[in-house]
Amino acid sequence: MEVILTEDYNEMSKISAGEIARQVRKKPNSVIGLATGSTPLGTYKELIRLHKEEGLDFSKVITFNLDEYLGLPPAHKESYNFFMWENLFKHININPENVHVPQGMVEDAEEFCEWYEKEIEKAGGIDLQLLGIGSDGHIAFNEPGSSFGSRTRVKTLEEQTIEDNSRFFNSIDEVPHFAITMGVGTILEARKIVLAANGKNKAQVCARFIEGPIDSQITASALQLHPHAVIVLDEAASSQLKRKKYYNWIRDNKHMVKKYLGR
Ligand code: F6R
Repeated sequence: MEVILTEDYNEMSKISAGEIARQVRKKPNSVIGLATGSTPLGTYKELIRLHKEEGLDFSKVITFNLDEYLGLPPAHKESYNFFMWENLFKHININPENVHVPQGMVEDAEEFCEWYEKEIEKAGGIDLQLLGIGSDGHIAFNEPGSSFGSRTRVKTLEEQTIEDNSRFFNSIDEVPHFAITMGVGTILEARKIVLAANGKNKAQVCARFIEGPIDSQITASALQLHPHAVIVLDEAASSQLKRKKYYNWIRDNKHMVKKYLGR
């Protein structure tokens, strides 16, 4: 894993957006996996700026979102469909036909999940997957104990996740208990992964998944198995890491890393 330590949320967002922009410039019809939540808001703002001010072209980009609450229609203001249109899609030149967000109101969720997996495959697989991390270590809605081989499926949300996400709802009772989510196995197949995290409440879990053992109780630790995962942290989220000096040395000596590792 490449661990990039940044000063603050703004720099974390710029670096995460920069990774996506680089991918889109290199391959205009890239397949990009997207996340929702508070973490990627700054990343999406920066992508919108890059589109408006620097002509970053999304017309051929195909997107797949990680997850959606089961039981919320796309027009519900807390649905992830709504979030994505409000915070990114409506501000860039993406073709709506190229956008895929799991549907929360499907009749047959199992059939839908199979279809979603097939659509990812048909698109050629995900080139770059953006992730956040839950305070319980989840990626997408793969709660503690999720199999590292899991595929897109319905998942029951953990109490901690329901509590964390209740900040977006009028009351905790309104938070759905189920979601459709890409599996850990689905995520690990992305050719590149960028996980961003910010804030003190993510410090402990970041130290555990980056420097602790691989553990299905912290599903983000599965990223240790990925050959091309980039972790971008703000100062608060990185505060409990032990090898900060090492990560910073690599960042400060990028020219050498490029010479010997070719990236
Ligand atoms: C959202 C998602 C979740 C969030 C995580 C962190 O699509 O997949 O795993 O990334 O819950 O959420 P925030 O960014 O709100 O702290």
